[in-house]
Amino acid sequence: MNKFIRNILLVGMCAAPAMVYAWPWSQDMMNQPSIKPQEGTPAPFAKRSVPVSGIPTKVANRDEAKGLKNPMQPTPEVLKQGKNLFKIICAACHGLAGQANSPVSDKIGAIDLTSDYVQKQLTEGWLFGTITYGSAIMPAYGVPGEGGGSNDLSPEERWYVVTYVKNQLVKDAAAAAQTKSQP
Ligand code: HEC
Repeated sequence: MNKFIRNILLVGMCAAPAMVYAWPWSQDMMNQPSIKPQEGTPAPFAKRSVPVSGIPTKVANRDEAKGLKNPMQPTPEVLKQGKNLFKIICAACHGLAGQANSPVSDKIGAIDLTSDYVQKQLTEGWLFGTITYGSAIMPAYGVPGEGGGSNDLSPEERWYVVTYVKNQLVKDAAAAAQTKSQP
C-alpha cells in the first residue's frame, strides 16, 4: 500500500473514537422504543396463575408516590443491594453515610439523609418518588429526561435504596463517626 494512503488511514482511525460520541446512535440503549417494566398494559396472566414477583408502584409524580407502601422487607440481602446502590449513586452528593458531607454537598445544598426530617417526616413512598422524579436540584433516577434525569434505577432498585436509607443509613453513619473518633 502507498505509504501516504496508509498514513492517512492511520490518522483517521486514531481520530475516529472521538467522533463516535457525536453519531446519532450514541445514546443509552436503555432509552429505546421497547416496553419497560411497569409500562404499557401488561399481558393478562394465565388463569389460576399465582404471581411470584412484580411491584405495582407506577405513579405519575412524587405526590402520588407519597402514600406508596414499600413492598420490601429489610432483609440482609435487600439492605446490601441498597447500600451498594446508595454508594454508587447517592453518596456523591449526600455523602457516603448520607450526612451531607461529600465535597459537593454544601455547594449544591444536598441535605442530610440521616436527619429527623428524612428519617421521620418523609414517608418511604415520598423517598421512592424523590428518587424516581428527582427534587428541585436532585436529578431523576426513574424517568429519562425529567429534570435532566435518567432511568438508571429500576423500581426494584429504587425500593432497595429506600429500604437502606430508612433502615440502616443512620446506623452506618453512627459507625462511621465512631471509627473516625478512634485514635
Ligand atoms: C446530583 C446530586 C444528588 C444526587 C446524586 C442525589 N441527590 Fe438527593 N438531593 C440533592 C439535593 C441538592 C437535594 C436538596 C434540594 C432538592 O430537594 O433538590 C436532595 C434532596 C434529597 C431528599 C429530600 C427530598 C425532599 O423532599 O426534601 C432525599 C430524600 C434525597 N435527596 C435522597 C436521595 C437518594 C436516596 C439518592 C440516591 C438515589 C440521591 N438523593 C441522590 C442532590 C442529589
